[in-house]
Amino acid sequence: MRQKIVAGNWKMNKDAAASQTLVDALLQRKLPTDVRVMIAPPMIFLDRLAQQAQGTVLGVVSQNMHAAESGAYTGEVSASMLKSIGVNTTLLGHSERRAYFNETNSSLAEKTAAASLAGIEMIFCFGEELADRKSGQHFDVVQAQLEKALFDVDALDWDKVILAYEPVWAIGTGETASPKQAQEMHAFIRSLLAEKGSEQIAAQTSILYGGSVKPNNAEALFSQADVDGGLIGGAALDADDFMEIVNAI
Ligand code: PGA
Repeated sequence: MRQKIVAGNWKMNKDAAASQTLVDALLQRKLPTDVRVMIAPPMIFLDRLAQQAQGTVLGVVSQNMHAAESGAYTGEVSASMLKSIGVNTTLLGHSERRAYFNETNSSLAEKTAAASLAGIEMIFCFGEELADRKSGQHFDVVQAQLEKALFDVDALDWDKVILAYEPVWAIGTGETASPKQAQEMHAFIRSLLAEKGSEQIAAQTSILYGGSVKPNNAEALFSQADVDGGLIGGAALDADDFMEIVNAI
């Protein structure tokens, strides 16, 4: 179902006490009921924070998931492990996973297939690099990322897919896509969903924007017709900033 979503990706930030403090602060606020608010804390705190958020409107999601069900994959976690602690959503394909951990469109296709099969909802991240945009290739790059890791996957459960367009040049750089650039790409993505999926998929899939979303630019980005919310990095580490962004939607 297409819905308004603001998700905070904490990346590898905050220790046990600091993660607890941030969740306490968020749970003390009045979280909206018409916007899905989610956080993706470091894996080691998922279980505890998911328990803490149970019964509230705050969603706790994983930053990553392995494609295999179990086995000799040191340091990894599977879909069933996430489900066993009540975590039913994961980020997949974040640009830092692609850049530093060798995730590719084809390894991500295995992950999206595994998540879909296991009934895990995914926030699938993708976006072009600066050189792609400078050379005018950004639409092609995004199309290839979506084709290989989503459209080409057999029996993908689109009800479990949230898209997060994150131009790599805007992540953690303070450089944001302009609202016009974001809308132009989101409209393109929605047209691809209609063409390669169906009109229904296009109408029902939420497409988030990510990349230096801050309290002072969130409203302009979120007011674009095809922008359904945001995936927030740096500004999700502070309760006031994050809530200002949530309330901008
Ligand atoms: P940023 O990160 O908001 O710090 O740019 C966004 C992301 O990586 O999801």
